[in-house]
Amino acid sequence: MAETKSKILIIGVTGNLGFELAKASLSALHRTFGLVRDSALSDPKKLHKVQLLSDAGLTVFKGSLEDEMSLIEALNQVDVVICAVSSKQVHCQKLLISAIKRAGCIKRFFPSEFGSDPDKTRVFELDHDFYSRKSEIRRLVEAEGIPYTYICCNFYTSYLLPSLVQPGLQTPPRDNVSIFGDGNVKGVFVKECDVAAFTISTVDDPRTLNKTLYLRPPGNTLSLNELVDIWETKIGKSLERIYISEEELLKKIHETPYPDNMQMVFIYSVFVKGDQTYFDINSSNGVEGSQLYPHIKYTTISEYLDTLL
Ligand SMILES: NC(=O)c1ccc[n+]([C@@H]2O[C@H](COP(=O)([O-])OP(=O)(O)OC[C@H]3O[C@@H](n4cnc5c(N)ncnc54)[C@H](OP(=O)(O)O)[C@@H]3O)[C@@H](O)[C@H]2O)c1
Repeated sequence: MAETKSKILIIGVTGNLGFELAKASLSALHRTFGLVRDSALSDPKKLHKVQLLSDAGLTVFKGSLEDEMSLIEALNQVDVVICAVSSKQVHCQKLLISAIKRAGCIKRFFPSEFGSDPDKTRVFELDHDFYSRKSEIRRLVEAEGIPYTYICCNFYTSYLLPSLVQPGLQTPPRDNVSIFGDGNVKGVFVKECDVAAFTISTVDDPRTLNKTLYLRPPGNTLSLNELVDIWETKIGKSLERIYISEEELLKKIHETPYPDNMQMVFIYSVFVKGDQTYFDINSSNGVEGSQLYPHIKYTTISEYLDTLL
């Protein structure tokens, strides 16, 4: 079976999501390759990640998104490319896209997205081009006719959930909790290893070709009020709920310098505007991951909150 599976190149294996993607790819028995910069190998933590992955079967190509020859050499040996560079490096994918076009052998490209759908968010006046940069990469991929899958996993559980969506806190509150807006707008959290498992499942699946995979698992799509309800049950105590109106949140966003205000911008986008859930997946050229791959036993928010007790 393994030889019929696509060979996958992952860019960013020393990063947070890229490491998970590489682990998921290897455990799904894909031949897996990582493009690694020389500089990463002199960082002990990153080197350790590369060693763990190499021991599990990863083949390392040395190179970078700025080095076209390294890209072409790597692309010629694989079928699929998944890019997991950080949001700051999204524009660095432009050379990769032209190299994919030149190589002509790539059956599918996954640009670095892994968040809310950049074409659906409605905070462009606040987000310092965070989403428009990702949309620009989508348009380039489509203009070049490169086969793609976009992964919209919404929030990682490691982002904001450890504080129960309380900007500035590191642990969930036990006395009072801020709720943004009316607290009834739903957002989505998915654990990074589950994002990786869903992503790798799409690689050879024709149902996801030239589509967006949205992750909105039922156990992980919750409003702030529902989130606090679950936490209160777990700690056996009611919290004082302090409601922060849309106007108050916008005022705080404007008063706080960039980039420190970006957590609040994401909270505004998701839990006030409803940017992760306001639209219908099926009419957005999309498919929903937990419906497509019911065998993936993802971590629910309730299970994740148990780890914070
Ligand atoms: N949904 C959410 O809640 C959430 C939260 C955070 C991030 N994200 C998204 O997840 C995606 C991945 O972000 P991340 O936080 O996992 O990234 P990260 O940890 O910062 O890792 C970035 C990776 O890209 C590599 N890289 C950077 N520039 C490169 C270049 N020029 N050539 C080759 N490799 C390069 C880095 O290699 P080095 O080790 O050499 O630097 C590193 O391995 C982004 O699209 C981001 O927006 C989503």
